Amino acid sequence: MIDRVKVLIHLDNLSHNYNLLNKIHHQKRVMAVLKADAYGHGAIESAKHLEKSGCDFFAVTDLIEAIELREAGIQSDILMFGKTSPNNIENIKKYNLTQTVDSYEYAKTLNACEIEIKTHIVIDTGMSRFGIYCHQEKDLLKATDEFIDILSLTYLKNQGVYTHFAAADEDQESFTKDQYDIFIELIKAVEFKGFNLGLKHCSNSAGLLKYGDRQLDMVRTGIAMYGYPPIKSELNFLPVMEVFAKVISIRDIEIGDGVSYGLTYAAKKPMRIASIAIGYADGYNRLFSNQDYFVYNKTKLNVLGRVCMGVTMVDVTGVDISVGDFVEVFGQNKSLDKMAKKIDTITYELLTNMSKKRVVFEYKKA
Ligand SMILES: Cc1ncc(COP(=O)(O)O)c(C=O)c1O
Repeated sequence: MIDRVKVLIHLDNLSHNYNLLNKIHHQKRVMAVLKADAYGHGAIESAKHLEKSGCDFFAVTDLIEAIELREAGIQSDILMFGKTSPNNIENIKKYNLTQTVDSYEYAKTLNACEIEIKTHIVIDTGMSRFGIYCHQEKDLLKATDEFIDILSLTYLKNQGVYTHFAAADEDQESFTKDQYDIFIELIKAVEFKGFNLGLKHCSNSAGLLKYGDRQLDMVRTGIAMYGYPPIKSELNFLPVMEVFAKVISIRDIEIGDGVSYGLTYAAKKPMRIASIAIGYADGYNRLFSNQDYFVYNKTKLNVLGRVCMGVTMVDVTGVDISVGDFVEVFGQNKSLDKMAKKIDTITYELLTNMSKKRVVFEYKKA
């Protein structure tokens, strides 16, 4: 019996979306990005389902997320985007993980442990986050030297190289093209010296959907796989997560009555309002105060006043709804994309915000 918030995860939609991405990238590998607990969807359940659907490469942030997957029985390759400190290197080996290496300085500290591990090298071609710095032609020489220094280390068994697009989902085609071009130039320079670089990858969801010619050996997809392509797409992506919250109280209020903290909403007419058991501590952002709605039987219930820590009040005047019913916060009948725009954020943040401690997750297969 769920008393407050129910998050439904449609695993079949996850594999449906994964298959759509696979079709675009037919001959190569599609890496499923499962960082931040699979963008809030639950990494273990998502990985198990995706592995059954044919996915054989996952990405996570760090060792904690990677070990969680291994201990749940996930066999596929797992790349960690983040750094592992050298004193944890034994776990990289023990759990058969792949470590991202972002610089010669870091690579040396790992190599000094004298433990063989698999690596992918990351190149900073414009994001300025991490990786070997190579934004322009003038950086090529230094970047090539640093790259080769890493490849020459005895204990790091390099199996890939990647970069990350900073603006593939924006109208910045020329910037993304420059990132891609410099990435390829650097790869060519290193290969010219006789090195085999293994898997080359650069595209995230937007990169894959927008630039079909820049997919290389693998693509790393997150948000589109969860049902929210970050750019317009003809493909039928389906939302994987739906959120429902319970009606816990209904009352009639009078003209002039204020609603919630700060009384930022005052009734202009007699109304019936309902208190819904979801608030900012559950993952429903406080910025939705007075400017969002929930859905019940195709009817919009406007949010009234400020979102509280665990409760949000909505207008149910004239609606046949009772305590114990569930309203949709987002899902089939309410677009998460539009919600995100309303408070100037992105779907990624709204998905990852759902609190595992306070809400109940149900995993559904059709
Ligand atoms: C390095 C890297 N690759 C791929 C992705 C997946 O991006 P998206 O969710 O936009 O597909 C991310 C996510 O931010 C990332 O950090």
